[in-house]
Amino acid sequence: MTTTPAAIASFEDVVPSEQVVRVRGLRKSYGDRTVVAGLDLDIRPGEVVGIIGANGAGKTTTVECLQGLRRPDAGEVRVLDLDPARDAERLRPRIGSQLQDSALPDRLRVSEAIELFATGSARPADELLEQFGLAARRRSVFASLSGGERQRLFLVLALLNRPELVILDELTQGLDPAARRDVWAAISRLHDLGTTVLLVTHEMDEAEALCGRVIAMRDGRVLDQGTPADLVARHAGWATVRFTAPADVVALQSALAGLPGVRDVLRTEHDLVVHGERQVIARVGAELVRHDYLPDDLRVEIPDLESALLSLLSHKDTTTIGESR
Ligand SMILES: Nc1ncnc2c1ncn2[C@@H]1O[C@H](COP(=O)(O)OP(=O)(O)O)[C@@H](O)[C@H]1O
Ligand SMILES: [Mg+2]
Repeated sequence: MTTTPAAIASFEDVVPSEQVVRVRGLRKSYGDRTVVAGLDLDIRPGEVVGIIGANGAGKTTTVECLQGLRRPDAGEVRVLDLDPARDAERLRPRIGSQLQDSALPDRLRVSEAIELFATGSARPADELLEQFGLAARRRSVFASLSGGERQRLFLVLALLNRPELVILDELTQGLDPAARRDVWAAISRLHDLGTTVLLVTHEMDEAEALCGRVIAMRDGRVLDQGTPADLVARHAGWATVRFTAPADVVALQSALAGLPGVRDVLRTEHDLVVHGERQVIARVGAELVRHDYLPDDLRVEIPDLESALLSLLSHKDTTTIGESR
């Protein structure tokens, strides 16, 4: 497991009061089952941070502890300089949140939901409804809204009271691609406005599109964290190059197999497929030129965050950055 002492040092450098979220050694069990097992978490103002990981990793439990909805068994949790377990009442109006299982009564109208959630300092709802494409749905009941409209309504409700921190748990689950993009655009707008956002997702394209930093969790621990590009480079630093090649390019095939960084060269029906470290992309190109073999369909595949997470989660080694400090 690769660790990143430099990155950790820079998180430690931040003085606590400048952090929106600071968690040390968070633990939570249900019965004898430990679900969060000593978690550290830091979020600075204006960050859009994603918690990623498979189902059951403890993501929802973690964000519920941050909101005072669950009481940790152990550890230090500070959110906006308050202890959520003790100061939930003071914290609640400062956090905008959408829970994983958010729902509203079927018969409740959009306008009524807004009245229900708005506090004294609420921003004008008309503006928000307009921004999130719900202005025409003001009189509609919750049951009649599409999946995308419901999620956008939850965003409106989360933003109504000018929150300093927005926590969104699986916001785009079950949405069609167009509705997901609408919700993504809304989250990007939040970021542009300087709102701190904590996003829980197991959809890696979402994390890659929205998050400046992602935190990968497994079994209630942080496995690694960094920008999506950092995680891909650390845990999925390979590439695949493929191109059409006739069966008789045996010399080329063995030359490619001998290049530094090449893990294997496979023949498919029409293609040669070279798999190896990132540098093999350039090396394969150079070798093809040397052999004066210039296919016009050279394709390069670089792993995405999903591959990185799969690779990270597949490690048997359970050492985490948290433990290596
Ligand atoms: N109230 C609860 N009682 C017992 N087990 C729970 C409860 N809530 C969650 N769990 C279990 O804890 C584990 C972690 O859940 P959760 O925090 O929801 O993970 P994630 O959001 O990463 O999927 C899961 O295996 C889940 O079944
Ligand atoms: Mg969850």
